[in-house]
Formats: sequence, C-alpha cells, structure tokens
Amino acid sequence: MSRKALIAANWKMYKTPVEANVFVDAFLPLVAGHTRDEIALFPSPVLLPTVIGAAKGSNVAVGCQNIHFAEEGAYTGETSIGQLIAVGGTHTLIGHSERRQYFAETDEIVNKKLHTALKHGVVPIVCIGEVLEEREAGKTASVLKTQVTGAFAGITPEAAAPIVIAYEPVWAIGTGKTATPEIAEDAHKVIRAEVAKLLGADVAAAMRILYGGSVKPDNVTSLMAQPDIDGALVGGASLKPDSFEKIVKY
Ligand code: 13P
Repeated sequence: MSRKALIAANWKMYKTPVEANVFVDAFLPLVAGHTRDEIALFPSPVLLPTVIGAAKGSNVAVGCQNIHFAEEGAYTGETSIGQLIAVGGTHTLIGHSERRQYFAETDEIVNKKLHTALKHGVVPIVCIGEVLEEREAGKTASVLKTQVTGAFAGITPEAAAPIVIAYEPVWAIGTGKTATPEIAEDAHKVIRAEVAKLLGADVAAAMRILYGGSVKPDNVTSLMAQPDIDGALVGGASLKPDSFEKIVKY
C-alpha cells in the first residue's frame, strides 16, 4: 500500500498577515511542481484569508489549527467549520497537544471535532502523543491506544478515509529532542495496529500517520525512511521558506 506523504507546517501563534504573505510568496516558487508529497500550511485563523488567497491555484493546501465541534453558536474566540470552509480552508488540525495541555481538550472533545470535520468534508489531522512521564513509566503504547480509541469513537470504516493522524510525542515538541526514527516507527506501528483493530486492516493500511516534534531539515530524511511514517507536522522549522522547502524535499 503506497501512501502519499503529507508535509504540514503548523505555524502556531506566529506571523502577521504581512509576514505570512512574504513566506508564501517566497515558498511557492521553491516547491512549484513538487508532486511527490502533499503540502499544507496551518496558520492562525486571522491569517487564513491572506494565506489562502496567496496560495490559491498552487500545490499548497491551507487549513486551520483548530475548529469548534459546533456548527455555530455562542462560543467566544472559536472558529467554526463553516467559517473555515467559507474562506477556502480544506484541512484542520484536531487535538494538538498544546490544545490538550493549555485548553483542556479531551479525547471526547477531539472525537466531536473529528465527527464535525468529516461531516463537512474537511481533512482532519488528529494529533496524539504521550508526555515524558508517560514514556518513562512505560505507558506510551497504552496512552496512544486510548487516544486513538477515544478520538475514533463512532467513526465507521466507510467514513474514515480522509483521516490523517499525527504522532507528536509531547517531549519532542519545541525541545529540539526529536524521537529517533526507531522510537517514532515503534509508536507509528502501535497506532496503525490500533486503527486496524478499530476500523479494519484496509483502512489502517491506507491511513497516513505523520510524525511531529522537532522535525528539521537534517533529521527529516531518516524519519521519512521509516515504513510507517507518512509525513511530518512541523512547527519551528516551518516558519522559514528555505527550511520548510528542505523538509518538503527530504
Ligand atoms: P516543533 O517542530 O517546533 O517541535 O513543533 C512540532 C509541533 O507541535 C507541530 O504541530
């Protein structure tokens, strides 16, 4: 089963509209004609119209870092799936560890958001990963299985095709401590086996599982060489066009 890799930039709470435009103007020519991998940018919601406008007609998709599970309503500060779609966004991150850590997102909330994204045809990237204490206590596999099971509650094999998973060990995010390719591959195998248990072998074999956590131009190649690593979700090293280009062209 060959899976087309997805290389995604999570800009977190960085860049102004002017800076975002400068990035896209410099980046698009660098990756023009690159078809081996899918490329996606995840800017802050306030940047979405700018980035989507600048990337229009290119090989670079744009999505949200977070959506609310409700269609609309009195949810101050949130972004709805309809708003994302209306401005031309096609993807969304769900359950990033920073959302779980600082905004109390649970597996139950992640599950509701996943249902909302699938219902509206937006490609969801469901983020999971263990914290350092869980890894040191030998609980990585059980944490990942619980997160996958919780996120996928009520999801049928028929509906699951668009889903992408991002494995982001929390101890590797923003720390410069990348998981070794072997550690990452082990985790990806656990995740794929759990997806197979829940949704069947065919769905699991087709599902893309990205790695995230201190991905850089100099470690991406060895990570991408692993059979179960199907792309990267990149924070810090995605903020500069030349650095992200090098990662895209691993
Ligand atoms: P860094 O690449 O900065 O470690 O961030 C990873 C991440 O959280 C991507 O979603």
